[in-house]
Amino acid sequence: MIRSVVRGFGAALPKRVVTNRELEQTVDTTDEWIVQRTGITQRYVAGPDETSASLGTDAARAALDNAGLTPDDIDMIVVATSTPDNTFPATAVNIQNRLGMTHGYAFDMQAVCTGFVYAVTTADSFIRSGQAKRVLVIGTETFSRILDWSDRTTCVLFGDGAGAIVLEGEEGEGTVADRGVLAASLRSDGSHKDKLYVDGGPSTTGTVGHLRMEGREVFKHAVGMITDVIVDAFDKTGLTAEELDWLVPHQANRRIIEASAKKLGIPLEKVVITVDLHGNTSAASIPLALAVAASDGRIRKGDLVMLEAMGGGFTWGAVLLRW
Ligand code: UT7
Repeated sequence: MIRSVVRGFGAALPKRVVTNRELEQTVDTTDEWIVQRTGITQRYVAGPDETSASLGTDAARAALDNAGLTPDDIDMIVVATSTPDNTFPATAVNIQNRLGMTHGYAFDMQAVCTGFVYAVTTADSFIRSGQAKRVLVIGTETFSRILDWSDRTTCVLFGDGAGAIVLEGEEGEGTVADRGVLAASLRSDGSHKDKLYVDGGPSTTGTVGHLRMEGREVFKHAVGMITDVIVDAFDKTGLTAEELDWLVPHQANRRIIEASAKKLGIPLEKVVITVDLHGNTSAASIPLALAVAASDGRIRKGDLVMLEAMGGGFTWGAVLLRW
């Protein structure tokens, strides 16, 4: 049985760091409020020369280097983003071009903060069906460009960045001891649109729009939705939370992460948390967190890793894989 195995990982962050203290100068907020309610202490904000495509390309190059591969070895690119460089062509095609690739195919995936989970699941399906052999899966965002910087309830929460992994098809035994993606669980429910959305778009206002969120409403749903898909992914394999080495959650809010881990009985020592340094980078947050924990030696070959996310739509999902 073919398994989609992680061959390499990489990340890229904008040069500029914006601390909570800096935001105190521009909106009516405090470092204490932001840290207490979210766990965020700083975020990265893209400069004029940094875009979702440029950051995504840097993350992709880092992942290729880490895998010991070149763009010639890749036959598919899938990019999870809600902040594309252009309405079209896809940011994935832009990145393909920046990598000097004229072979293979590239496309974007839009599932907001759950984008990377959807993209890994899609790449895994393409690999297992024989449509692709090696896939660059990228999450890249510049949410700073769609924030209303006068709205303190949203502008303090988000940041920019990119992360990438290379997935490669490898023959496995078909057991849960195999390396690679073992199970996935995806969900969406569009009836929640008004709780988290962007108030513009090509087919409505003809503008890009700004992010709008009823934070408390999103929070109310988050833990239940996250834990449901995690339990579903475990159930598909017969594996349990006790066997998990690392939970790598979407980094929206430290309180949501802690409450989800607690509900599942996963100790915090097994949870990768980067929201303090990156803020919420939407589809980039999971591959950024993976890159941090794999580079510092926490996530190691053979480890059982659960990815999970929940975001606009609502969309939510989980992927269970062996690193
Ligand atoms: O990645 C996609 C998914 N998104 C999420 O998961 C976000 C989910 N939601 C959250 O993380 C939290 O709801 C927030 C961090 C957005 C807000 O935390 P909260 O504990 O739910 O606060 P709240 O919205 O209930 O607001 C509490 C108070 C309000 O004042 P009043 O009405 O009690 O007087 C807000 O106006 O905090 C006020 N407030 C702020 N105060 C200082 C809201 N934003 C700020 C701010 N600084 N930046």
